[in-house]
Amino acid sequence: MRAGGHDAASLRRLWLERRTSSKPLDESGVWRFREILPALHDWNQVITLREGNTPLYALPSCGRAAGVERLFAKHQGMNPTGSFKDTGMTAAASFARQGGFRWVACASTGNTSASMAAYAARAGMRSLVLIPQGQITWGKLSQALDYGAVTCQLKTDFDGCMRVLDEVVERMPVYLLNSVNPYRLEGQKTAAVELLERLDWEPPDHIIVPGGNLGNSSAIGKALLEMKELGLITRLPKLSVIQAEGANALVRTMRETGGKKLIPVHAETLATAIKIGSPASWKKAVRVLEATGGAVEQVSEVEMALAKAEIGADGIGCEPASAVTLAGLKKLVKLGFVKKNESVVLILTGNLLKDPDFTLKFHRGDLFAGTEHEEEAAEVLVPRQRAPMVLDASANAVVKVLEYAELNDPRK
Ligand code: F0G
Repeated sequence: MRAGGHDAASLRRLWLERRTSSKPLDESGVWRFREILPALHDWNQVITLREGNTPLYALPSCGRAAGVERLFAKHQGMNPTGSFKDTGMTAAASFARQGGFRWVACASTGNTSASMAAYAARAGMRSLVLIPQGQITWGKLSQALDYGAVTCQLKTDFDGCMRVLDEVVERMPVYLLNSVNPYRLEGQKTAAVELLERLDWEPPDHIIVPGGNLGNSSAIGKALLEMKELGLITRLPKLSVIQAEGANALVRTMRETGGKKLIPVHAETLATAIKIGSPASWKKAVRVLEATGGAVEQVSEVEMALAKAEIGADGIGCEPASAVTLAGLKKLVKLGFVKKNESVVLILTGNLLKDPDFTLKFHRGDLFAGTEHEEEAAEVLVPRQRAPMVLDASANAVVKVLEYAELNDPRK
């Protein structure tokens, strides 16, 4: 198969050449791959914040914690608004503007709304955000406000926001930018293409993503299948999806119905980004699991919090929802699904600074206070906690702390 008249070798060459170009379209880590994306009438009309081009990091100490020799993180939290949503939003916002829409809208757990608001502002479009009241982080809410979105906090959960938005879209000429939007999925494909390019088109054995509304797993899966069709890769990595135990609709759907019927759940998790009970793209995600031979797994709140601290201690950092990937990997290794000598890439979806509250509570030891997880947390998490200290303004006090920290260095 060919894309835009190119075979695999010429696509690889073309995409690489564009990395030295200073045209906005080529500087974007999404549009650099435009041969496999839907075409705009006029490429100059693309709305880009120079998204994509995110780093691939080695995670040696997390690898040791999980029991694999080659562990990497593709950090999609390094995108312009701090999450993977930007790669899809550049595409969908560009098509919304091409379609002449004045208004775009989404229901969100926070990252989609932040991203949509930014791209809409760049495109000169208005944006409407529906978010569950009190269930998204301040960082994400403040982004939507800063980028000028009309922001409604509804007295419901994410799934309720989706239902209301579906009705609004029926009644008003607004363009829906949730991840069911096909252009969003097309743009999000490029994370996988960029990853494979970075690995010289040598696929890892496993790619692991967090699962919420399941748009991202669908997009990455689609990219893998297309790359194989195009001859860019010769074998498929296994794509596995990890959910929080309290928001485990896909896990239950696979285990209880073999992927035939969605089992919606009432979602509860501190990882607000993936606090979703009825994922819209579940059918696509099931197909991707089947096509690539991936697994689904769920992790507890404490397992996720520990994994987040481990990623942070590697100097990378991410938001809680992203950390389910490492926690899930540990389980997949124990189950024998991931082997010690296999290569694994975690997709980190959001930046650490998206949810500083979670991190602060973790280090102060407040995260699970008064909850059913308190005992487990005390045992597992305390060694990782680094609470900030309040001292007199004296060098003596600071030196004492320094000496104590040196004596108790966990890396010794
Ligand atoms: N990680 C983060 C940081 C997210 O914000 C989301 C989804 C996911 C993972 C899950 O991705 O939905 O494609 O399976 N956030 C959406 C939002 C729902 O509104 O920001 P998914």
